[in-house]
Amino acid sequence: MPSKDKSHHDVEPSVPRPGDRGVNPCPASPEQMQWFRDAKFGLFIHWGPASIAGAEISWGRMDRIEGGQEHQTVPGRVYDELYKQFNPVKFDADAWMALAKAAGCRYVVFITKHHDGFCMWPTEQVRWTDPTKPRHYSIAETPFRRDICREIAQAAHKHGLRLGWYYSTRDWTHPEYLQGDNRVYNAYYEAQVQELLTHYGPVDVMWFDHAFGDWSQFTIENLFKAMYQAHPNLLVNNRAARGLNNIPPGRLHDLVEADWDTPEQQIGHFQTGRAWESCVTMTQCRHDSGGWSYRPGEPTRSFEDCLRLLVSSVTGDGNLLLNVGPTPEGEILPEQVEVLRKMGAWLARYGQSIYGTRGGPFVNGSWGGSTRSGNKIWLHVLEWPGETLTLPALAETVLSARTLDGAAATTVQTPTGLEVSLPTAQRNPLDTVIELTLAPAKE
Ligand code: GLC
Repeated sequence: MPSKDKSHHDVEPSVPRPGDRGVNPCPASPEQMQWFRDAKFGLFIHWGPASIAGAEISWGRMDRIEGGQEHQTVPGRVYDELYKQFNPVKFDADAWMALAKAAGCRYVVFITKHHDGFCMWPTEQVRWTDPTKPRHYSIAETPFRRDICREIAQAAHKHGLRLGWYYSTRDWTHPEYLQGDNRVYNAYYEAQVQELLTHYGPVDVMWFDHAFGDWSQFTIENLFKAMYQAHPNLLVNNRAARGLNNIPPGRLHDLVEADWDTPEQQIGHFQTGRAWESCVTMTQCRHDSGGWSYRPGEPTRSFEDCLRLLVSSVTGDGNLLLNVGPTPEGEILPEQVEVLRKMGAWLARYGQSIYGTRGGPFVNGSWGGSTRSGNKIWLHVLEWPGETLTLPALAETVLSARTLDGAAATTVQTPTGLEVSLPTAQRNPLDTVIELTLAPAKE
């Protein structure tokens, strides 16, 4: 008997074995991507000794070897000594991860090493042998000494959050970075990635941040092979090799594109064929587009703004990775905590129209957008264009329409469009979520 509905649910999920992701292990399979695409909302954390100076992490260092003039406020030798004062006595990984959970985040991405080279875990790799410099340039050489990455990993696991490590391949203080064939630096950073993937239990995401230099100066295939050996279901963003010169064409290009696109400080376009994740700072430095790390005196985005970022990402079929920059003492700013808690309260009420959905079928725009799952479509109306919202025609029949606040909406289906209306009093100025229930698809 022919099967009734050959949906993707009928496809046998491939079960990867450790160290074996098949002949072409990258990108990840749809089954491996599933949790990420369902999760929608992650917390990004940029933190390190730079917070003491209130300077943009890495970029705030003067005399750096890459990038333009922007952000440079701290002389190199001052910046490089900040670690000696890094003592975040109020750091509480459990409280941070409990907050991420309460905010409705399903995963967290933590900065382990940014472009400045400072390591938030006690790496075994040696950076300097010069006795006047810190041998490892890591948390072990600060007054704090605790393994911050371990505490983050344990707390994330405890709170049921997926764990991602941000790791910057670019390294502006390593003496061998991009020297000659880059062999010394390559061995160093690949060993560090292994430490991060093998010392802290399950890791779900490696989040790189571009690479400079020439493809021939790196061993990107080795890197990926070793990463998959450590975690066969690891997902990797599209920045492990992006930025290198002379990237070879063909299969190796998969390692550059990897698993998802990463629009930065902006919402990605409607794109359903491939995963994407917008990373956006909660601190809004309008004048210099920074705000990744602690930037005292700069404003925090409002809850309304952050919610729109989330809704616009999800209706475009992407994720939002919302960033906080904790203080030098180890606290997430109270105003950012407040916004995150409001996000969580909103998601507790409307989350069924977010988590586990896919963007569409309507392309999102200034009016808002839609998500769908099974026989439901949720319209997220951010701006009513007038009395009625007119959307493109839908093949299925709408059986009923009601807001998630409990009001009945009216729909009229014509051959050319779907007209949706709702009395003004029933509209939610933040986001009117209207659930459409569709008749089962005809055989
Ligand atoms: C940019 C910035 C960097 C930040 C990253 C996050 O690449 O240079 O500071 O970590 O965006 O996406």
